[in-house]
Amino acid sequence: MILWNTQQAGSLLYFWSLILRFDIISIFPDFFRDAFEYGIIRRAKAAGLIEIKAHDLRRWTSDKHHMVDDRPFGGGDGMVLKPEPVFAAVEELTGASSRSAVSSRTRVVLLSPQGKVLTQAVAEGFAKDADHVVLICGRYEGVDERVVDELITDEVSIGDYVLSGGEPAAIVLADAVVRLIPGALGSETSALNESFSAGLLDCPHYTRPPEFRGLRVPEVLLGGNHAEIARWREEAALEKTKRNRPDLLEKRS
Ligand code: 6GU
Repeated sequence: MILWNTQQAGSLLYFWSLILRFDIISIFPDFFRDAFEYGIIRRAKAAGLIEIKAHDLRRWTSDKHHMVDDRPFGGGDGMVLKPEPVFAAVEELTGASSRSAVSSRTRVVLLSPQGKVLTQAVAEGFAKDADHVVLICGRYEGVDERVVDELITDEVSIGDYVLSGGEPAAIVLADAVVRLIPGALGSETSALNESFSAGLLDCPHYTRPPEFRGLRVPEVLLGGNHAEIARWREEAALEKTKRNRPDLLEKRS
């Protein structure tokens, strides 16, 4: 959606800005009641940069028992999310009933452990290329594969471990994307120095007091030599990456 940004009324030029809209589809919409009421996401909402709404998948059921899942064909444990309510929800929220019909700036995302892993690059893609992100929260047992085949543009996992549902992952994805929207962070450059955007982990940070229980802050950080401080931080980031994430160093070289 394109909006006139009236907050710029004081300047000579009005300009329009994009608003990024998130719609979350879940069988536990209350899970998100407070999730976006803190920090950067709350500020981005207040500033009109984003809109986030959680929807109850049961709203798109038409049977008396509001059934959203059923037993898997072929047998096995657990229940599978039925395709009809998910299709109906996405149709209502996007106006499109298949992947090929959704607008080029819409992403229909299924959160599932079978997805491609969320990385900073994936988050940057959403922040840059989308103005509407529909997040479908799968259950661990699964979602009818026809949803994957016909409807979704992206299947995303947040890592190689098992969650009981996609809800925490939806919050993780939304957070990672929102903080990349221009204007969401206090200063436009603060996303640049952080972990991953440079392919390294962030360097260690210290604050007052300079000595705590006999533990000293590195001397170089207490002086005012900014070139030396920059060099120390680079070196420390490299050390930390070597220790905790050697895989990142291999990818870099
Ligand atoms: Cl997106 N969903 C579930 N159920 N488990 C996960 C996940 C998602 N990402 C990692 N584990």
